[in-house]
Amino acid sequence: MPDRLAVEIAVLYLALGSCVSLDGAENEVERQLDRVEWQPTQAAPGARYVGREVCAQCHPRETTAQKSTAMAHALARPAESLVLQAHPRLTFSDGPYRYTIEQNGDRVSYAVTNGADTISVPVSWAFGYGLGEVGQTYAFSYNGSYYEGRVSFFGGNQGLDITLGHSTTAPASLKDALGRAVKLEEIKACFGCHSTGAVSGGRLQVDQLVPGISCEGCHGPGAEHVGAMEAGKLPETHIFNPSRLAPGDQVRFCGACHRTRAHVEAIHVEGVPTVRFQPYRLAESRCFNPRDRRISCLACHNPHQNVQHEPADYDAKCLACHSGGKEPLAAAQRAAPGCPVAVSRCITCHMPRYRLAGSHFKFTDHRIRVVRLGDIFD
Ligand code: HEC
Ligand code: HEC
Ligand code: HEC
Ligand code: HEC
Ligand code: HEC
Ligand code: HEC
Ligand code: HEC
Repeated sequence: MPDRLAVEIAVLYLALGSCVSLDGAENEVERQLDRVEWQPTQAAPGARYVGREVCAQCHPRETTAQKSTAMAHALARPAESLVLQAHPRLTFSDGPYRYTIEQNGDRVSYAVTNGADTISVPVSWAFGYGLGEVGQTYAFSYNGSYYEGRVSFFGGNQGLDITLGHSTTAPASLKDALGRAVKLEEIKACFGCHSTGAVSGGRLQVDQLVPGISCEGCHGPGAEHVGAMEAGKLPETHIFNPSRLAPGDQVRFCGACHRTRAHVEAIHVEGVPTVRFQPYRLAESRCFNPRDRRISCLACHNPHQNVQHEPADYDAKCLACHSGGKEPLAAAQRAAPGCPVAVSRCITCHMPRYRLAGSHFKFTDHRIRVVRLGDIFD
């Protein structure tokens, strides 16, 4: 059927053609998506950031919503941590060790004592929004190295507990009880995923960073865009808009921080702990199709807002495909059967929630599927 083939090739060309952007910003991002050590928050040498308040002048709607999100608060200086403002003194005991995280003026100290000796250090950074159900972890300098504190704040129990990934067995020394030394490569990645502009040319520049994922963390440096918009040079916008990426690339874009299969393989995690890596889990679902916008992260989430918790709000997203054969199928789409069991609140049965060992929070499994009693997590 040569005619049909010719038509399909023509359609493919048109589809590809429409993805190619005028200024190449998409292509630049697309090229980076294969690198597991890349995040969109990294600053190209000479990048000119303008800050959220400038974006607010012309985009008040996005800015008002975005600045109160968990992502915008993924990192804070200790004096600006909302958790520490609400809890100026936190304590926790574990065997012989007693921990205190406490505000002293504009500083916050993190101290551990075994009764005889004490180590007390000023907190440098608070990682994680913490006011939601998840948590906040403290980083500081000790003995010339970055450290991650052994105790973290957990929203689920409104108090301190052992940081995820740290052993719960009693540490052998006070120094081990304090926390874990973090190598430069690792702390660079922490900052790359939790803040904007911290890494440039592979180097960590904490004096330059903007805490949290700011507008320019996802859209890239904005000075050129602002200049062009002020000069009225439309329609060339000179700024990256992830909505123009192919759906599968949108998932990989969010996955630069939320983690894809490539990250999961690189960090050797398997089983339930992978439930927090939504791009990886979603791509494992039979619903997933990298050419279909109805199943990209943006179909269900507005990146300028926190997640919606009402299950019924997601029904329309599922029914966009699972309407029982009522919708005509476009070339890249597969038929999706309807549910024999229920007509609403789909996610309550098909996106089960799992608690990570040692955490006080349940993540939503994005591997959408039929879950049967006794199924193992895979
Ligand atoms: C002086 C006003 C102004 C400022 C300041 C401004 N923008 Fe814009 N922006 C615009 C206008 C106007 C458009 C719409 C252009 C269009 O739709 O053709 C736009 C469009 C955009 C788009 C969509 C671009 C596209 O090609 O689809 C993004 C993303 C964006 N702005 C982000 C930002 C960010 C981030 C900041 C801060 C760094 C910012 N803007 C600051 C005026 C501004
Ligand atoms: C630069 C890294 C980065 C990128 C890129 C990124 N995220 Fe996030 N995101 C985070 C971090 C870090 C958190 C955790 C914030 C916290 O709780 O401390 C988060 C949290 C979230 C949350 C949970 C918010 C809540 O209500 O608790 C959602 C939803 C989310 N991201 C969606 C997205 C989507 C969709 C994209 C792609 C458009 C995206 N993210 C891209 C780093 C990123
Ligand atoms: C590849 C990107 C990435 C790196 C590297 C990274 N994080 Fe995150 N972090 C995230 C995302 C995305 C979330 C939100 C989803 C989640 O909780 O897994 C998050 C959530 C968190 C939270 C919220 C609580 C929790 O347990 O979910 C804390 C605290 C945190 N990270 C601390 C750190 C610290 C400290 C480091 C470095 C040792 C680090 N992160 C490295 C992306 C990253
Ligand atoms: C976590 C990543 C992320 C952050 C942070 C972020 N954006 Fe966006 N933004 C996106 C994505 C993804 C889209 C495309 C949304 C879509 O198509 O559904 C977008 C779209 C836009 C658009 C185009 C809207 C339209 O209707 O065409 C504007 C303007 C914009 N963002 C401005 C901002 C501003 C201003 C901030 C900071 C206050 C910001 N964004 C922060 C990811 C982000
Ligand atoms: C088909 C809809 C759907 C798609 C597509 C989707 N999500 Fe979600 N997501 C949800 C639902 C439902 C929740 C749970 C909401 C709640 O709290 O009840 C959620 C929760 C989250 C959370 C909060 C942490 C958690 O596990 O509960 C993050 C972060 C997140 N999604 C990121 C993403 C990213 C990144 C993508 C793209 C890979 C994505 N989501 C795609 C529906 C979706
Ligand atoms: C982009 C379209 C699309 C979206 C959006 C979508 N699905 Fe699917 N889903 C499919 C397709 C296509 C299949 C059938 C795949 C097959 O037969 O291989 C499927 C399969 C399923 C299955 C059976 C999978 C299994 O492993 O047995 C369930 C259950 C399901 N979807 C539920 C949902 C729910 C719930 C949502 C919303 C949270 C959703 N889907 C969103 C396209 C989609
Ligand atoms: C009360 C729990 C529950 C709710 C709510 C629910 N489902 Fe299901 N769904 C099931 C169960 C159980 C099955 C497996 C039925 C079987 O195989 O006998 C199933 C099967 C499916 C299948 C596979 C059908 C097939 O022929 O392979 C799809 C697709 C699906 N559901 C989609 C949805 C969608 C979309 C919604 C929301 C409109 C939804 N479900 C709401 C429990 C539920």
